[in-house]
This record gives sequence, structure tokens and C-alpha cells, in this order.
Amino acid sequence: MSNKMWGGRFESAPDAIMEEINASIGFDYKLAAQDIAGSKAHVAMLAQTGIVTQEDAAAIARGLDEIRAEIESGEFAFSRALEDIHMNVESRLAALIGPTAGRLHTARSRNDQVALDFRLWVRDALDSLDAQLAAFQLALARKAADHADAVMPGFTHMQSAQPVTFGHHLLACVEMAARDRSRFSDARRRLNECPLGAAALAGTSFPIDRATTAGALGFDRPTANSLDSVSDRDFVLESLAAAAICATHLSRFAEEIVLWSTPQFGFVRLSDKFSTGSSIMPQKRNPDAAELVRGKTGRVVGALVGLLTVMKGLPLAYSKDMQEDKEGAFDALQTLSLCLAAMTGMVADMTPDLARMKAAAGAGYATATDLADWLVKRLGLPFREAHHVTGRLVAVAAGKGVGLEDLSLGEMRAVEPRISQEVFDVLGVDNSVRSRTSFGGTAPANVAAQAKAWLERLRPPSPRP
Ligand code: ARG
Repeated sequence: MSNKMWGGRFESAPDAIMEEINASIGFDYKLAAQDIAGSKAHVAMLAQTGIVTQEDAAAIARGLDEIRAEIESGEFAFSRALEDIHMNVESRLAALIGPTAGRLHTARSRNDQVALDFRLWVRDALDSLDAQLAAFQLALARKAADHADAVMPGFTHMQSAQPVTFGHHLLACVEMAARDRSRFSDARRRLNECPLGAAALAGTSFPIDRATTAGALGFDRPTANSLDSVSDRDFVLESLAAAAICATHLSRFAEEIVLWSTPQFGFVRLSDKFSTGSSIMPQKRNPDAAELVRGKTGRVVGALVGLLTVMKGLPLAYSKDMQEDKEGAFDALQTLSLCLAAMTGMVADMTPDLARMKAAAGAGYATATDLADWLVKRLGLPFREAHHVTGRLVAVAAGKGVGLEDLSLGEMRAVEPRISQEVFDVLGVDNSVRSRTSFGGTAPANVAAQAKAWLERLRPPSPRP
């Protein structure tokens, strides 16, 4: 038997392999809710414009509601022979209400239908990612407020650079997440145009009202060009690009958590809820969730590269290649959601070891820049010269295997005779961070103020009495 939805000119059924390669119902069943919402808006518009009768539209809408209930309760029997979600729903509608079902597809094609459904799905995904990012920021800002003055080493090249505070480090992640949110909201703004009514590619001769369907589905306006409407997948690409950047941010932070939670660093302890044990080594507390966030970033980036590759050779308008847009995007956006949930949980539950962080902050001559700055401010040396003098002092200390603060005033003066006792004030890590009061710097007062500002912005509004 040929396909009952489009088989008018066909005599035989597709080969089993044809059916297997062609069918998308195995994954696009996820678009069921969006497909039904789009069809309901479409048929309401068809009735309003007199293209179908009110009675037919009402029967179709009732049938669609019934199908939604069947799908939600798990009763719906999806069929691969019907290819995709669009034809599964329409075929079931015909079984429920008879030939009137055939009027639903007036002035519409699966090409604009799938473009619509997928936009709606991506839009929902972006909205929920935004809420998750806000929760992640809130967990970070809370920890940052608690530890605005907790000194830890700051690294460049993964070498001890200058002391910073733990709160400052966490707020850096809050900033990254803010840019991620801004990228998602930017993508959402461009995505929010409705392709429904573009039909197969050229528009339609029926007197449809695209502004009505666009408004009913929460879009800002209809898309302006029918060819572009059915061939554009920028909205997925942009969302995946933003997701790939966001996942990369999470991955970098996950890498730090992996390092920080080693016995060698010992900067943070992950809670039991976010650690795993080893089946052979009883002492182990493994940061598997952080490692998996780092690892799963590969699939998110892969989905972006995959779809860019699918799209790059496609002429206008729709080509079946575009059916390959969904699985990667579903996987990537759902994976990112899981990663965000895991990172939020880890951050909320982790305990910093303040003493270890502080001890490590002083290691590796981390206050050498403070010494050089002191030589500039107190002795009026040009910074280059101060850098050189400090380098020589570091070499003396390193030769003795001690810290800068362990050198005697005499040893210092042997390198630069004008150095006075007060230099020792700037060699402590607390003074070092406290002195970094420039805008955006790590001074605890700055960090506390920024954490407070973020908490005010992020705190969920308290319920009205
Ligand atoms: N399942 C298809 C997809 O996901 C729906 C659009 C089919 N359009 C077509 N002209 N065959 O892309």
C-alpha cells in the first residue's frame, strides 16, 4: 500500500530501507505539543477568514485536543509508516473525525509546519535555559557573598600570579552566565517570527491572515519572505552557538572544580551528593559530575558543527537534509540543561577550605607585583625598573628557598638600598587583595558590593502578601 497521506501517484509502498531512512517520528514526536498548538492556531485562522467553516474548525480543534490528551497519557500509537509527527497527528485526526480532518492542511505545508514547530520548541528551550542560568548565577552569587574576602591564588598560565578572593572568582562565572543569557535572549528575539503560512515555499492563494496566527502563537510578527521562512535554520544555529559557548564556560569552571577538589589543591570539598566513590580505591571522592559537564560539552559543540555542516550546501528552499536539524539540537539543549542543573547543585553544596586556599595564595611569590608597585609608589621607580629589582629579590628568596616576606630588611637593601620596613605590609596576601580597589578589581569590599548587587538583581521576587 502506498503512503495514505501523499501516495496518490504512487503504486507501491516504500522499501523498508526507504522508510527507515525517511522517518523522523523516532525523534520528532518531541514536537507533538508544538505541532498541535500550531494546528489549532492555523485552523482557528482558517475559520476566521472563512477558508473553512466554523463547524469544521470546531471539529478539528476538538479532535486535536483529544490527540493531545492521548499523547500526554501515552496512549497514542506513533507509526513509522506515517513518517513524522505532522502526518501521525493528521492521520489520527482523520480516524477521529473523518474526512473533515483533510481541511486542516489547507494553505499549509509540512515545510512551514516543521519550521514553526521547531521554532516553538527551541523558544521554550531557550526560556527554560534562561531560568536555569539565573538559578546558577544565584547559587554563585550567594557563595561569592559568603566568601567575598576569602583569599585564594589567582593563576595565569596555571602558575601562581596574584592573590584574588574566592568570591571574585565565583563572580567571574556570574558575568559569563550573564553574557550567555544575553546571547540566548538575543537569539530568541530574532527567532520570534512566525513562518506559518509560507506554505511549501511560495506562500498561498488562500486569503490567510498570518498576523493572526503569529499573534496567537506568541510571535512578534510573521516572517517576511516565504522562501526564507521554510529554509531558514538560523534560529537553531544561533541557539546552538550560544549553547556551545555556554557549555564551554561550564566546562572551564568544571575543570577548575576538578582541580580544586584534588587532595593536592584541596581548595574545595564537594558534598557527598555530588561526589562518587571508586570501586577499588576506598579513599577516592571523584568529581564525576564536573568531569561529565566538561565531557558533555563535546556533544553540544558537535551539534553546532553538525548542523552548520548540514546547512552549508543547501539551496533554497526546503531540502530533506534539514530533517537532520533536530536530533543534535534536542540533545544539545537538553544536555546543556542537565549540565546547568549539575553545576548549580555542585556550587550550592561545595565547601571551600579557606585555610588551604589562603596558604596557597602566598606560595609562588604571588605578591611580587605588590612589591614592584610599592617600589613605584614609595621610591618613585619607573615600573620597568621596579619589576627588575623585584625579580632580583625573588631570585634571592628562591635561592634561599623562602618567601619574599621571609627576607630580612638587610637582604632587601642589598638589592635596593632605599627599601624600608613598611615594604613588609604589602607582602601579605590580605593586604594584596585589599589594595586592588580599581573598578572590577578583587578587593573584598568591591566583591562584597558586586555580590550584593547581583543578589538584588537575581533574587526571585518575594510573593506578594
Ligand atoms: N519530517 C520533516 C522534517 O523534519 C518534515 C518536513 C517534511 N517536508 C517535506 N517536504 N518532505 O524536516
